[in-house]
Amino acid sequence: MRLRRRPGRSLVLALALAAGLCAPASASSGIEFEDTTAQRVKACTACHGDQGRAGPDGYYPRLAGKPAGYLYNQLLNFRDGRRHYGLMTHMVDLLSNAYLQEIAEHFASLDLPYPEPAAASSGVPQRLLERGRELALDGDADAGLPACVACHGQKLTGVQPRFPGLVGLPVDYLTAQLGAWKSGERKAQDPDCMATIRERLSDADAYAVVNWLARQPAPADAHPAPEGATKQPVAADLACGTAAAGKAQP
Ligand code: HEC
Ligand code: HEC
Repeated sequence: MRLRRRPGRSLVLALALAAGLCAPASASSGIEFEDTTAQRVKACTACHGDQGRAGPDGYYPRLAGKPAGYLYNQLLNFRDGRRHYGLMTHMVDLLSNAYLQEIAEHFASLDLPYPEPAAASSGVPQRLLERGRELALDGDADAGLPACVACHGQKLTGVQPRFPGLVGLPVDYLTAQLGAWKSGERKAQDPDCMATIRERLSDADAYAVVNWLARQPAPADAHPAPEGATKQPVAADLACGTAAAGKAQP
């Protein structure tokens, strides 16, 4: 009966097992199976797109090339209840920190070009896009908002090892993430600087900045900037727990 009530879990478990995610095949199993991380994460790329290049519709985020520490933190966040997506949580529930780290490093190491921004939906007034650009590049001192580039990197491609990039992501994904911070559904490790940023953004400003971001093509070199490229913390009340986290979490 338990299986009936939780079809998601059994399906994902079956997928994970089929892909060898939980139990890497041993040479003695008699089954032809290439035991590489790329093989074992097939259950992940079923949703996240080939090589983690993102699903087709802006709902399943890209994983390829994002900073390893950021990806690792997200896997912990799903497992430990700071982010919520049932089907993913069930998968990462079963895995050790060391294995999560290995998966994060695998996806971080993939070097794939970013897609062109999707055709801009009409109906976003130019003055809002201007406002979005201003918030991203200059911030708003009166509102206590540093520029997004102050943490996410001058080119908005992220900063190693734990700040994600904001270019090359679809508007629906960006909107969903800022919405999840607002509703409390998404949290980062304490102190959660992004939660504070979201509190200080009006809904109109959040709309403006994600619409501007989603229209920016990723630069030719879209790799995250090296560690230390942005000075942390940017303000006394904006320390990011995630940035302070120890390098090798057991
Ligand atoms: C059933 C579909 C599905 C499967 C299978 C799945 N994911 Fe996800 N994953 C998602 C969705 C949807 C999100 C975004 C949820 C949200 O908006 O918070 C996500 C988010 C993530 C994120 C956060 C990305 C970011 O930029 O913040 C990581 C990392 C991730 N998944 C890794 C994995 C790994 C590793 C696996 C395999 C063990 C996996 N996922 C399997 C659907 C899936
Ligand atoms: C004080 C540093 C800081 C500033 C300034 C900042 N962010 Fe962030 N942001 C972070 C951190 C740290 C994370 C990763 C949190 C985590 O580990 O989940 C993040 C994550 C995000 C994400 C999720 C990305 C993903 O792939 O899921 C979005 C969207 C985002 N920030 C938007 C913004 C926008 C828009 C601005 C400017 C208005 C901004 N941020 C300014 C620190 C900052």
